[in-house]
Amino acid sequence: MTKVTLKDGVNWVGVVDWNIRDFHGYITSRGTTYNAYLVSDEKIALVDTVKLPFANELVEHIKELTSLDKINYIIVNHVEMDHSSSLPVIAKLAPQAKIYSTARGKEELIKHYGAEFERVEILKSGDTIKLGKKTLTFLEAPMLHWPDSMFTYIVEDKILLPNDAFGQHLASSGRFDDEVDQHVLMEEAVTYYANILTPFSQLIVKKIQEVVAMKLPIDIIGPSHGIIWRKDPMKIVNAYMDWCTGKVVKNKAVVVFDTMWGSTDKMARAIGEGLASEGVEVKLLKLRCTDNTDVVTEIVDAKAVVVGSPTLNNGMFPSLGAFLTYIGGLKPKGKTWYFFGSFGWGGGAVRGMEKMAKEFGFEVVEQGVELKWVPTAEELKKCFEFGQQIAQKIKA
Ligand code: FEO
Repeated sequence: MTKVTLKDGVNWVGVVDWNIRDFHGYITSRGTTYNAYLVSDEKIALVDTVKLPFANELVEHIKELTSLDKINYIIVNHVEMDHSSSLPVIAKLAPQAKIYSTARGKEELIKHYGAEFERVEILKSGDTIKLGKKTLTFLEAPMLHWPDSMFTYIVEDKILLPNDAFGQHLASSGRFDDEVDQHVLMEEAVTYYANILTPFSQLIVKKIQEVVAMKLPIDIIGPSHGIIWRKDPMKIVNAYMDWCTGKVVKNKAVVVFDTMWGSTDKMARAIGEGLASEGVEVKLLKLRCTDNTDVVTEIVDAKAVVVGSPTLNNGMFPSLGAFLTYIGGLKPKGKTWYFFGSFGWGGGAVRGMEKMAKEFGFEVVEQGVELKWVPTAEELKKCFEFGQQIAQKIKA
């Protein structure tokens, strides 16, 4: 492998997973990487590992820089298996290495990989490990992404290794931000934020403010997925602040729907036209054509989400149930939710969706448009007007 050096003595030893397309349900159309870093001085530290099928590749990458019996420390920033499932392999090949994680990380490591991880030593915010001239210091970052999560900071090199934070599911031959297409990079960064970190937005803002208050100079941010930010690390920090605080929200509506025989589709198109006629940006996303991964990404900068379903067996269409369950867990803030749908005799889809959204704590505007069988021209006009009314609320 071509050596990937962040700064003298700090090397990327991770792997590229070019062909993963389903990351626990998140559709990763551009693959991903699992980033691990070797920090070499008088002592050597390995920060994070990779997903188990790539353990041998990680070992080969380390061997190109040092032999495994020279590793003194293994730092586990995060226990989720994409970053830790090679740890048992590395721990066997480097039995002399001391292993460190947060207290929650230790509990999780034992539960994932067994009692041999009772030997893990615990780190707290502010703890340091001296490698020689280089110093590692640590910052607990619970829920970014799991309770165990932690950031590692290489003091003298001004390198932050925040694991999942600031990552992207993006496989590429370039390892750095200045080596990839910027549009693709930011598209994957916002998709990652939308699908992984949305529920923790307030914690992210607090953690960024904490790091700013510590006045840690940052030259490079090396996340655990995707490219490393060296040209402009503040670009992703500022983008996170904008996403987390809703600063990016604009006069935009996302119409999310599914259809059985085309009635709800016709309604969605008429509502979309009503929205657009008022100058509001609109996206129509049919769930059987668009994965939830992309739908929730489109919602990041939208003010309104307009959800439509036909009635099937007195309830909503199953794809709507899956979508609402997914977004109910992510809980994006600051959106207004509207519902519409069609039915044959009893109805129930709109009622069911509104109830579900209210239970998630979403701001729901009730009494959306609902119609029987196939929409007439008059009913489609009502849908158009419904779109116009939503647009007026968005603009107000
Ligand atoms: Fe990339 Fe939370 O694991």
